[in-house]
Amino acid sequence: MNEIFLKIDGRKVQAKEGITVLQAAQSIGINIPTLCHHEKLEAYGACRICTVEAEIGGRPRLIAACVYPVEENLVVRTRSAKVDRTRRVILEELLAHAPDSVQLQALAQEYGADKNRFEKEPSFCVLCGLCVRYCAEIKKNNAVGFSDRGAKREISFIPEIASGSCWDCKECFPLCPTSYLQAAYVLIEALAK
Ligand code: SF4
Ligand code: FES
Repeated sequence: MNEIFLKIDGRKVQAKEGITVLQAAQSIGINIPTLCHHEKLEAYGACRICTVEAEIGGRPRLIAACVYPVEENLVVRTRSAKVDRTRRVILEELLAHAPDSVQLQALAQEYGADKNRFEKEPSFCVLCGLCVRYCAEIKKNNAVGFSDRGAKREISFIPEIASGSCWDCKECFPLCPTSYLQAAYVLIEALAK
């Protein structure tokens, strides 16, 4: 694969064509926050917390670093007033759903996000899809999936599959940025008794 050069936060980076801006930043130790990204899973690009600013065609644009591929001479800024504002609003929206999430609270502190800015709609799941995708892509099990659409979208365990396999696995639990996944599992266990 060809090597290309781009600039991230003023530093020249050599990267393999086809990798993402997130991977290129990580390769030189620059941290970009992620919520729905997992290195072993297909790129998903749902949460947008990895938003960075890139100059494309001479104009600054906001892109999701976890899905955007590196380009020759691309100029990327991982922190700017616009980037921080975008991440702050995303966090405020997510905190309305999962106000007790430790991971979200830590990010909120870093970006000055106000967890009370939006009216609370606690669903406790931020729909990052990590649990669903990990179970499907890595475990090839599909014990947990999405149900419904739009505002009603939520995750749920498939009782027939979960009862036979989740107890001995639970590998998705630590991936969840909120406590919802474990709570959902405990509930399904209790209902099964
Ligand atoms: S339960 Fe947790 S890991 Fe699963 S989609 Fe919701 S927030 Fe993500
Ligand atoms: S981490 Fe990039 S969109 Fe979620």
